[in-house]
Amino acid sequence: MDTSKIQAKFKELYGAEGAVYTSPGRINLIGEHTDYNGGFVLPGAIDKAIYCVIKPNGTNKVRGYAPDENPDKVALNSEFGLEEADKPKERWAQYIFGVAREMAKKGRKVPGFDIIISGDVPLGAGMSSSAALESCVGFALNDQFALGFDRFELALTGQATEHNYVGVKCGIMDQFASCFGKEGSLIRLDCRSLEYEYFPFDPKGYKLVLINTCVAHMLGGEYNERRESCERVVAAIAEKHPEVKLLRDASLDWLKEVSSKVSAVDYIRSEFVIEEIQRLLDTCELLKKGDYEAAGRKMYETHTGLSLKYTVSCPELDFLNETAKECGVAGSRVMGGGFGGCTINLVKDSLYDGFIQKATEAYEKQFGIKAKVYDVVIKDGARKL
Ligand code: GLA
Repeated sequence: MDTSKIQAKFKELYGAEGAVYTSPGRINLIGEHTDYNGGFVLPGAIDKAIYCVIKPNGTNKVRGYAPDENPDKVALNSEFGLEEADKPKERWAQYIFGVAREMAKKGRKVPGFDIIISGDVPLGAGMSSSAALESCVGFALNDQFALGFDRFELALTGQATEHNYVGVKCGIMDQFASCFGKEGSLIRLDCRSLEYEYFPFDPKGYKLVLINTCVAHMLGGEYNERRESCERVVAAIAEKHPEVKLLRDASLDWLKEVSSKVSAVDYIRSEFVIEEIQRLLDTCELLKKGDYEAAGRKMYETHTGLSLKYTVSCPELDFLNETAKECGVAGSRVMGGGFGGCTINLVKDSLYDGFIQKATEAYEKQFGIKAKVYDVVIKDGARKL
């Protein structure tokens, strides 16, 4: 994105130039709803990002401006203090406030600053625009005020913001990918230990492409409910196996032992999670061997699990998934939290044009909505420009 416009706007509003920072959205190849269960994920940062221009203003207030927000619905400007009682009402400003508050809770109080936020991560598309915003603000504040947080702490700060100021009890995947992204590599992250390894990803003869249903998802109650299902099952398993703290620590056999103690819904959701954690490990082995067709079949299995067991799909996503299958696409599935947003597709080069044409035309015919298509480019994480 060309940041000269927001820099010019910053000068117009606040009288001087500011420093520019960016942090990206993410894709996730496989491993969904596993992060808050201590499992593995395989995300990568992408070339769609949030940008900010920022400058300390010598007061204890924040003056913020977000030109991309829909002007009919929310204010573009927001001015707020940084004490707990000062929470702004504009949603975009709550993220900025939340990050600063979480930093203050760790004993590093943030003074006042001016900030403009902009970006090209589609909102509600499952590409983690919120985490990109949290990471961008976190990285910028850390650098501007020399707060001394490392990237792990910045990712955790973003996650805590989501929990405490947005209300989504998310895992660590999105913020981690936004902070740790590396050009050309996916990140195989163990969400229990936070150990990670870069996983070079350049599937010869294949492309990764996202198709956005343009049915916006808003994560909240439904997401948190799924997390609670998993936690109830962990509590039931831990009665006999106290070492189980997360579903990652449990096996399908141990899950079976509690089948009469937990609800059918909690059971089937947990079954999906335990299967998905193993599926990711299997898929990494297939990717190492370069067997993209077999890895793609795992993605279809994930979609089926997310749709039928975890029930976070929707008719629009299922339709795009079916269309991919009909076109012979190697792998396809709903990506991210679900309930709308994108499918991620691993497509042989020779099938790419036909698939995109068929999927977008059939989708529009079926739902009267124009789907959006994004080729995935894997880029670096949070940084100063
Ligand atoms: C959202 C959350 C992540 C993760 C995914 C599902 O993106 O923010 O923490 O749980 O959903 O894998």
